[in-house]
Amino acid sequence: MTFTQRHLLGIEQLRPDEITVLLDLSDKYADRNRSRATSTDVLAGMTQINMFFENSTRTQASFELAGKRLGADVMSMAMQASSVKKGETLVDTAMTLNAMRPDLLVVRHPHSGAVDLLSQKVDCAVLNAGDGRHEHPTQALLDALTIRRAKGRLHRLSIAICGDIAHSRVARSNIMLLGKMENRVRLIGPPTLMPAGIAEFGVEVFEDMREGLRDVDVVMMLRLQKERMDGGFIPSEREYYHRYGLDAEKLTHAKEDAIVMHPGPMNRGVEIDGTLADDINRSVIQEQVEMGVAVRMAAMDLLARSLRERRSAMDKGVMA
Ligand code: NCD
Repeated sequence: MTFTQRHLLGIEQLRPDEITVLLDLSDKYADRNRSRATSTDVLAGMTQINMFFENSTRTQASFELAGKRLGADVMSMAMQASSVKKGETLVDTAMTLNAMRPDLLVVRHPHSGAVDLLSQKVDCAVLNAGDGRHEHPTQALLDALTIRRAKGRLHRLSIAICGDIAHSRVARSNIMLLGKMENRVRLIGPPTLMPAGIAEFGVEVFEDMREGLRDVDVVMMLRLQKERMDGGFIPSEREYYHRYGLDAEKLTHAKEDAIVMHPGPMNRGVEIDGTLADDINRSVIQEQVEMGVAVRMAAMDLLARSLRERRSAMDKGVMA
C-alpha cells in the first residue's frame, strides 16, 4: 500500500487504501502530538506557503502548526493585502510564488476548481484547504480519523450529515470519503439546502431530523453558510433551529452512543444547541480540531516523500 499522489486536491482522487495509509500515519502523529516530543524534522529544509483567499481560523492555524511541527519553514501570505487586490490573476500569483520555489502550497479559494487550476501551474505539491463548495479534503480526513478513533472502525457505520449540504464542501468531501470506506450516509435537511443531482451520491435523503437520525452512529452538523446564499433558503433562524437544530431531544433518536460532530465555526442556537456542543460525553468537536493538526502533518509528510522521490528520479534522468 503506497501513497503516490502528487497533490491533495480532493477525496475524489484518493483510493480507499491511500485513505487508510494517510489515516494510519495521522494516528501516529496524533499520539505524538499528545506526548512531549511534538516536533520532528520530516520537512526540514522545505518551504510551505499558505495562501488563504478566504477567511479561516482553524484550518489556517492547523496547517501552520502542522508545518512547524514537521520542521518546515512556514509562511502565511496575507491575501487580503496582496496583489490580488490590485487585480493580479490567480495564475499570475501562483507563477510568482512558484518562482520562489516552495515545496508545499496550501490554498483556500472561494471558487470551486481554483485549486486544481493552480496545481497545474506549479512544480510543488498543492494541498486544497477548501475550494468554493467543491472539496475540503483535509476536513473529511480529520473527520474520518475522529470517527475511526471514537468508533474503532471506519466501515459499516451509519452517518447522518445534517443541514446546509448544498453550500458545503465539507459535506461533499465527507460523502465521498465515507462512501469509499463503505459506510451508510444519510443527508438530512430542507429541500432548499440539498444540492442538485443528489440521487447520484449514493445516499439516503431525509427532510425530517428525527426520522433521519434514527439509529445512526454519527451525527455531523454543518454551519448555515450564509456567505454562499443569495436569497431566502430558510424561513428564519428560529424556525430552522426548531426543525433542524440538534438538541438533546433530537439526539435521543440516534444510537445511545452516537457521537456529535461539527467542522466549526459553529452557530450556537442555530444549527446546534450550545450545551450539547460542549458535552464531552457526546461531542467530539474538540477532538476534530486536534485531529486536524495530525491529519495535516500526515498529508504533508506523504506529499513531501513523493515530491522528494520525483525530484531524485528527475535528477537521475529517469523521468522526462
Ligand atoms: C468549514 C469550511 O471552511 O468549509 N470550516 C472549516 O474548514 N473548519 C466549514 C464552514 O465554514 O462552515
